Amino acid sequence: MAKELMLAAIESTLSCLFTEGPQDLKKIDEAMAYSLLIPGKRLRALIPLLILEASGQAWQKGLYPACALEAVHTYSLVHDDLPCMDDDQYRRGKLCNHLVFGEAIGLLAGDGLLTEAFYLLNLGYTKGHYPAETALKLIETLSFRAGRYGMIGGQLLDIEGNEDDDATRLRRLHSLKTGALMEAAFLFGAYLADLKEEEIEFWSDFAQDFGLLFQIQDDLMDVLSTQEEMGKKPGSDQEQNKLTYVSLYGLEKSQALAEKLFFDLLKGLESKNAEGIKIMLQELKNRVR
Ligand code: IPE
Ligand code: IPE
Ligand code: MG
Ligand code: MG
Ligand code: MG
Repeated sequence: MAKELMLAAIESTLSCLFTEGPQDLKKIDEAMAYSLLIPGKRLRALIPLLILEASGQAWQKGLYPACALEAVHTYSLVHDDLPCMDDDQYRRGKLCNHLVFGEAIGLLAGDGLLTEAFYLLNLGYTKGHYPAETALKLIETLSFRAGRYGMIGGQLLDIEGNEDDDATRLRRLHSLKTGALMEAAFLFGAYLADLKEEEIEFWSDFAQDFGLLFQIQDDLMDVLSTQEEMGKKPGSDQEQNKLTYVSLYGLEKSQALAEKLFFDLLKGLESKNAEGIKIMLQELKNRVR
């Protein structure tokens, strides 16, 4: 199945990043590899490859951009877990980076992963996987979506006080902290596949709702799932008094909102020949009991 091949190729491309670093800088490689190579779901990396596949193109040309997305995502998790942020202990079933390497190296590992992402976007171009024009589009997309008016802005809203918590603020928070990088992943697929403007718009809209569904599910799982299922400790949101779908709407309403979003997304895919994305959506839905 193509998805299994894609996952194997993602893992092997990520592993190759750590094969020949200088001996005296081994520690940074170790710390970066620790978080990057514990396999997560690799959702953001798979998305552009699945879009390429759905467009009838070789998904292999999206491998470096896929790994760039995974590097940015992993950096965001390493930093998100730090004591000054969510102060978490477990990630992807293992101790958090800062608990293994210390806070200072954890911080550097995150910095290193973020920077590596842009190196990888350029590498795909120098290896001839896509033209310079596409590389520039990818760089623009990722730097904007992961930056201050994207994911970082979302993390700001997440840690800021929540006196004026309401539906609008929550929606904005989720759309920035999670939706923005998801959108980058779908746009990567669209740009790599050289899709037409209206197709790009379709995937961009789809990504926003997909990201929202993903984050509502993440909020739900923080309450409903076990550490074994998630690889991270449940109850963290409540402990940190976070604004989440569950804290604002309660469990049942959040579940109903997630259900509606799922069916809307599925319906949107009806006219698309995108079986891989459909399966991914279904798997996402199935994660929450
Ligand atoms: C966790 O993302 C962070 C959020 C945006 C909620 P994932 O649930 O995709 O984490 P991994 O990559 O599978 O570990
Ligand atoms: C993390 O959101 C979002 C980013 C890292 C940008 P959460 O704080 O909800 O993610 P988890 O629950 O720790 O994975
Ligand atoms: Mg957080
Ligand atoms: Mg967190
Ligand atoms: Mg969470």
